[in-house]
Amino acid sequence: MYGQHQYVVHADPASVVADLNTEPVRDHEPEVTEIIEMPASSTESWAVASTLGDLHDQICTCMQCPLGHTRTNFVFGSGNPNADIMVIGEAPGADEDEQGLPFVGRAGQLLTKILEAVSLSRDEVYICNILKCRPPNNRKPLAGETDQCEPYLWKQIELVQPKLILALGLTAANTLLKNKESMTNLRGKIHDYHGIRTLVTYHPAALLRNPEWKKFTWDDVKHLRNLYDAS
Ligand code: URA
Ligand code: URA
Repeated sequence: MYGQHQYVVHADPASVVADLNTEPVRDHEPEVTEIIEMPASSTESWAVASTLGDLHDQICTCMQCPLGHTRTNFVFGSGNPNADIMVIGEAPGADEDEQGLPFVGRAGQLLTKILEAVSLSRDEVYICNILKCRPPNNRKPLAGETDQCEPYLWKQIELVQPKLILALGLTAANTLLKNKESMTNLRGKIHDYHGIRTLVTYHPAALLRNPEWKKFTWDDVKHLRNLYDAS
């Protein structure tokens, strides 16, 4: 099954299959529930949107937090609306704010390569962020911003119904999983996010600063690929 895929990082398919077959046994495989119900606020009109397009149109003028006043573009998300894999980052940066699309700057280009390394295209997955608007100078999201914005993400997850989530970086992971664990503790495990199996890896921007961590992310996306192929 794995042999059908072209793993572009390794030239020799035999070594790829060998690598994948020596994947360590993971902690636990949580039970996946049939219906994913996110705690979306039922009083808001966007909460009953039935498509991503509707949701986008209802929230793209959001002014619920101060980032609405400084953004150039609302960065909703991109990719396959029925994706089995949802990739979730932190917040738009300058390039994303400029273009209105997630992960299109330097970190985004690295993300594209990371996905391609396990034969995933950006169009096959769905890519978005915890925050839809750029924080000034790319500072970390504030708690109030996350509290306002995260219900939009819950609604996106409810509409896409992914089987797997890949959280990019500690901010995304700690926000989704509601913990303060370190990257070292979070990587290499399958987390249960409202019944969706969730993996955590380094943010591609962190990999640009620390290329020696790329080998860990390579392991993490191979794990993601294995779960995807088995799902
Ligand atoms: N970093 C993120 O977390 N998200 C983007 O969309 C771009 C950079
Ligand atoms: N430290 C970072 O700077 N980024 C990560 O993604 C994890 C640890």
